Amino acid sequence: MERSLLVNAALATMEQGAGGYGLIESAAIVLRDGRIDWAGPCAAMPADYAGWEARDLGGRLVTPALIDCHTHIVFDGNRAREFEMRLEGASYEEIARAGGGIVSTVKATRAAGEDELLAGALTRADALIAEGVSTIEIKSGYGLDIETELKMLRVARRIAAQRPVRVRTSFLGAHAAPPEFSGCADAYIDEVCIPALEAAHEAGLADAVDGFCEGIAFSPQQIARVFDKAKALGIPLKLHAEQLSNLGGAALAARYGAMSADHLEYLDEAGVAAMAEAGMVAVILPGAFYTLRETQAPPIAMFRKHGVPMAVASDCNPGSSPLASVLLSMNMACTLFRMTPEEALAGATREAARALGLDDTGSIEAGKRADLCVWDAEHPAELAYRIGFNPLHERIFAGGA
Ligand code: NIG
Ligand code: FE
Repeated sequence: MERSLLVNAALATMEQGAGGYGLIESAAIVLRDGRIDWAGPCAAMPADYAGWEARDLGGRLVTPALIDCHTHIVFDGNRAREFEMRLEGASYEEIARAGGGIVSTVKATRAAGEDELLAGALTRADALIAEGVSTIEIKSGYGLDIETELKMLRVARRIAAQRPVRVRTSFLGAHAAPPEFSGCADAYIDEVCIPALEAAHEAGLADAVDGFCEGIAFSPQQIARVFDKAKALGIPLKLHAEQLSNLGGAALAARYGAMSADHLEYLDEAGVAAMAEAGMVAVILPGAFYTLRETQAPPIAMFRKHGVPMAVASDCNPGSSPLASVLLSMNMACTLFRMTPEEALAGATREAARALGLDDTGSIEAGKRADLCVWDAEHPAELAYRIGFNPLHERIFAGGA
C-alpha cells in the first residue's frame, strides 16, 4: 500500500459548494493508493492516521493539480510567419482563406514522423507539467486524412506513457476542410471525417469528439452529421463555437448534450441559456483572444447569471494560441475578461474536470485522485496574479512525485 500524510498545509480544496476556494488553514491530507483518503484541519484528523509518518509542507498552499482541458499540442511546424502577417494587418480569417492557418499546420503534421511529432508535443506537455498540470486534453485536427488523424491521437496517447500525466483525447476531424477538399466540405465529412472517427473509436483513441463550427470551418448542419455519428458510437461531445461569429454552434452542442462549448466570444444570451439548460461548461480560452487581438470578450456576466460553469484552458496550438501555460491563461482570464482569481482557479481545476466529463479529479476531497500542487504561495489569488512566475514547489501525481 502506498500511503502518505501531508501536514501543515494551507488547502484550497475547490470543492463544489464549499464556498469560494474552500480554504482550510493548518490542514492535513492523507493519500492512499493514488487517492485522497482524508483532507481537513490537522486538529480534526481521525486517530487512525496518527501513527503515520508525516511530511511537513511548511504552511504552503496546496490546490488540486491543474487541468488543461483544451489543447492542440500535437502538431509539427510553426506559424511565426503568420504572426508577422497579422502584425502587418492580415486577419486570422484572411490568412486561413488564403491557404494558411490550420491548413499550413496540416501540411507539416502530415509530413512528420510519429516520433518527431511526439518529441515536439513532449516539449509542450513538459511546459504544462512544470507548472502543475496533471491532466491534458489533446485534440487531433491537423491531419484531416484518416491516417494522420489516427497518428496524432496515437502520439497523444504516447505522451501519457512517457510522462506522469493523464491524457484525454478529442477527435477533431471537423477542424477544417483540407486543401484536397477545398470547397467540398460535405464530401470531406462523408469520405474522411466520419470514417476517421469510426477508425479512431475502433482503436480506442477517441475519448471525445470535437468540431469547429465557424464560417472558415464547418456549418452547424455539417457538425450535426459528425455529432450524429459520435452519438451513435456513444462518444461524448465538445465544440469550438462562436469564436469569430455567432452561428448557433453552442445551441447545437446543447441539443446534442455536449459536455462543453469552447471560445464563445460571440455567444448571445439565448445560447448561454441553452448551455445552462443542458448543463454544459463554457471553456474560456483567453490565449486565442489575446493572440488574435480580438475585441469582443465572451459573455462572462451572462455565464454567471445563468449559472454556466466556466473552465479556463490554454488552447495551446501553433496558430491562434501559441501558449503553453495554464497559469498565464488564468491571469489573462482575469485581466482580459474580468473573471475573478477564484473563478480562474476553479476553471483550471474543478470546472476543467467537468468539461472533460471527469468526476474523479479537480478538487481536494476524499475519494478523488491524489493529483495535487504544492505552491510557494500563501493565498490562491497569487496563482492568477503573477505573470511569468512559476510558483510551483511540488506536483503530486496519483499520490507520487
Ligand atoms: O482553438 N479555433 C479553431 N482551432 C484552434 C486554432 C487552430 C489553428 O489556428 O491552428 C483554436 O483556436
Ligand atoms: Fe482549440
